[in-house]
Amino acid sequence: MSPLATFDVVGKRVFLRCDLNVPIKDGIIKDDGRIKASLPTIQLLQSKGASLIIAAHLGRPQGLPSPELSLAPVAKRLGELLGQEIIFTGDLTGDAVTAVARSLKAGQILLLENIRFSPAETSKDEIERAVFAAQLAQLADAYVGDGFGAVHRKHASVFDLPALLPHCAGLLVAGEVEVLKKLTENPARPYGVVLGGAKLSDKLGVIENLLEKVDLLAIGGGMVFTFFAAQGKEIGTSLVESDMIDSVKALIATAQEKGVRLVLPTDIVVAPTLSADAQPTLVSADAIPADQMGLDIGPLSAAAFAAQIQECATVFWNGPMGVFEFAHFAAGTKVVAAALTKVVGISVVGGGDSAAAVRALGFADSQFGYISTGGGASLEYLEGKELPGLLALGL
Ligand code: 3PG
Repeated sequence: MSPLATFDVVGKRVFLRCDLNVPIKDGIIKDDGRIKASLPTIQLLQSKGASLIIAAHLGRPQGLPSPELSLAPVAKRLGELLGQEIIFTGDLTGDAVTAVARSLKAGQILLLENIRFSPAETSKDEIERAVFAAQLAQLADAYVGDGFGAVHRKHASVFDLPALLPHCAGLLVAGEVEVLKKLTENPARPYGVVLGGAKLSDKLGVIENLLEKVDLLAIGGGMVFTFFAAQGKEIGTSLVESDMIDSVKALIATAQEKGVRLVLPTDIVVAPTLSADAQPTLVSADAIPADQMGLDIGPLSAAAFAAQIQECATVFWNGPMGVFEFAHFAAGTKVVAAALTKVVGISVVGGGDSAAAVRALGFADSQFGYISTGGGASLEYLEGKELPGLLALGL
């Protein structure tokens, strides 16, 4: 049973930290997965007679309010999904918010403005964060942490606030941890991890850690070109993190030592520029032209990745294989996603971006074993790091 089921919130004002960091373009929400994933906890708390003060972040405003990072569109969508009015004053702290919070009736919801509009939320200064957390604590009688995507952040509403109120993990956070435990504690084998996305530096730590645990590691996306550079291949104008080349050489050697199958693409879709109408050309991974950049893994590589994935009993995937937002460079990601849907065993899609990618490519959530709402959070969990937001909830 989830700890939330027995957490006493009857007639209480609950401060609920969610991750509602959804992609928004021109005021339109492109993927509402994280809002939908927050509903079970919201509805459980409402059914138990609580009123809710929900806090969440959107983007990285660096402590400065900006209209394009307002949670107003999220308030609207949340209201549509719940079929009720969401009170959204556009404030974060202050007398008006306190008055509204104190007047909430059972079942009512106040959504605070983007919590990162306050510099104190993300401050490295413990005292500044603590003062802000104390202000937030005034709004509520209890705290529920359900923003899994932000549990790796030592932020006021994630880490400091729970210590000031009776607290409990929400259903999403508890569910995410349960799934990730299956990947870290004795996973069914073969265990394969597929990593993509642009930035290798974000994932180096997790790759190092995974080499101790996995049977297969397949790499695609923009970060593969740093692997190619480490192998001495010509990579044209592709993305590369030159300062990572030595680390990648060491990774390749460790994979060999540990007997981990390291699968890299053998063919690449290249184009002269990164744009939707750029002319794609398929080339061998050994023959990327000097004036072209790699924007997707090729069909041979995608088929090879898919075959390897389907042989695994446990698979974790984070990061697109190419620039899936443009039709010419989406095929690799689509083939890998399709392979994950066929895994007999546990398949986990990790991360906001990867989750948005599979939905944008027409897959349904139900086709995958589990879609995690946390990109960085799930990677740091797999990396074996202590996550402040989980620590604060006693997980
Ligand atoms: C995410 O999108 O991964 C989470 O919402 C965390 O966002 P952050 O990386 O800006 O902290």
